[in-house]
Amino acid sequence: MAFKVTIFLLLFVVSQLNSQETGSDTVTEPIAAESGICRKCVCKDNKVDCAEQGLTTFFDKTEWEGLQPLKPTVVDLSDNSFENITGLAALPIQTLNLSRCGIEYIENSSFKDLQQMQVLDLSHNKLTSRLSPHAFEGRYSPEEYEPLESMRVLNLAYNEFHSLNQDLFEHMPELTELDLSGNPIITIDYPTLISMSSLPMLKVLRLRSCQLTEIPEKFLHTPLHLIHLDLSDNLLAAVPQELEETKNLQYLNLNQNPIKELDMKSSEFPGFPTLRNLKELHMCNMQSLKRIGQGALAGLQKLEKLHMSFNPMLSEIHAKALARPDDIGETYDWPPLTELYLQSNSLPEIDSRLVSRWDKLEKVDVSDNPFMCDCSTQWMVDVLVPVVERRKTNASMNMICQEPIEMRGYTMKHLNDIHRTMRCVDKYGHRPERDGAILLGTLIGVLLALPIMLGLVLLWRRGYFTFIGLRGPVDVSRAYYKRAPDNDNFI
Ligand SMILES: *[C@@H]1O[C@H](CO)[C@@H](O)[C@H](O)[C@H]1NC(C)=O
Ligand SMILES: *[C@@H]1O[C@H](CO)[C@@H](O)[C@H](O)[C@H]1NC(C)=O
Ligand SMILES: *[C@@H]1O[C@H](CO)[C@@H](O)[C@H](O)[C@H]1NC(C)=O
Ligand SMILES: *[C@@H]1O[C@H](CO)[C@@H](O)[C@H](O)[C@H]1NC(C)=O
Repeated sequence: MAFKVTIFLLLFVVSQLNSQETGSDTVTEPIAAESGICRKCVCKDNKVDCAEQGLTTFFDKTEWEGLQPLKPTVVDLSDNSFENITGLAALPIQTLNLSRCGIEYIENSSFKDLQQMQVLDLSHNKLTSRLSPHAFEGRYSPEEYEPLESMRVLNLAYNEFHSLNQDLFEHMPELTELDLSGNPIITIDYPTLISMSSLPMLKVLRLRSCQLTEIPEKFLHTPLHLIHLDLSDNLLAAVPQELEETKNLQYLNLNQNPIKELDMKSSEFPGFPTLRNLKELHMCNMQSLKRIGQGALAGLQKLEKLHMSFNPMLSEIHAKALARPDDIGETYDWPPLTELYLQSNSLPEIDSRLVSRWDKLEKVDVSDNPFMCDCSTQWMVDVLVPVVERRKTNASMNMICQEPIEMRGYTMKHLNDIHRTMRCVDKYGHRPERDGAILLGTLIGVLLALPIMLGLVLLWRRGYFTFIGLRGPVDVSRAYYKRAPDNDNFI
């Protein structure tokens, strides 16, 4: 009996203790709700800053609900340590920063109640090809497939993706900006290609440092509005011809790719396809680039900014690399360049015909090249140096002669200052002034030969040459109808 009573008493005490605990919970909860996250982070003006707080567990739904009175629009959780991301509460967050958190797994529908989220930064985490499209599931909508309606910018850079789930973006149909840089993609496989084809509104695509060796056909077919493409630091051996699909591209970065050459006649190293709207091209830090051939950049009709610097092997840019023959093929059109950067290459000269109007350049730097200072580059001293000077950079100080030996070390600025006229003997022993004489001779020859030929033809038509077996045209046409057509020795 006493035993039973003690048990009863014990139970009573325990239940009382329990109810006390829950009681105290209900008392402290509103305070936690108001300040739970804000105690660990800085909450100010609709902004929650939790960056670098040493957090090791992601907040649970209740904690997120506690933020609701604050109406946060920007939440920065970067530089913490969460393995898993779980569901957030309904909040008016527009920018959510989950960069550098060691994230491996995102639970289904984690962002479902963030219907105003436009920017999600998941860069520098440990996400892999296993990331499921369900992670980005939104709310039911009659028109679209459970969309995260406001999502525009998704950053997945520097994770561990080899491939993407083919439906990865199905809940983000309006995405305009995607960063996949720094993932070991290596080859763009079929699922990745399909995932890209569900992004018709994409404007900005970054694929820097993805070890890509080629851009497959159809990869850029769907994003019709693509205006910015970064393919720098990849393993592309040639200019990707798939670029032709990007009709609205305005910015292209091909820096740090092992492209050797651009040659319109080569199928291995072709030049650029027609990119009618491209305004800015970057081809810098290319260790293997040697030569830009004729017309290789001619398809870039609206090019304004050309960055082609720090290419240690680049020793030839064809005079007509940028010039495009007009419809008739008699004259050439040049793109409206305003900025030209060719510094620190191996160019012995810049051809005056490379650009149509040097005076239209707002920024130009051709410094740090091993220039040949002879009559072929006289125009650089006379015309280009003043253009460079006027742009108020000191770049002309670094336009230094390398050859011929007696000119070595002179700056073109100095040669301009002293009005130096340079000689026409170069290190190869070519003598351009003699070439000029040969050209003139040929011209005179042609001019003389023309009337003589005409005279001879006239005489022949009149039948003056019948005595040596050549008949006039009247006889020939008669012979034509008489003879068998295979015997055409009279032509
Ligand atoms: C997220 O935070 C990182 C710093 O860890 C910063 O570099 C990045 O720009 C932020 N992203 C956005 C979208 O603000
Ligand atoms: C993260 O989620 C996975 C899979 O749901 C689970 O196995 C793991 O224990 C979770 N890790 C943490 C730290 O909660
Ligand atoms: C996520 O959602 C998908 C589809 O609804 C389901 O098949 C899968 O089991 C879910 N995963 C988890 C961990 O709940
Ligand atoms: C150019 O050089 C002059 C004299 O060396 C210097 O005073 C000036 O600040 C330099 N300008 C620029 C843009 O570097």
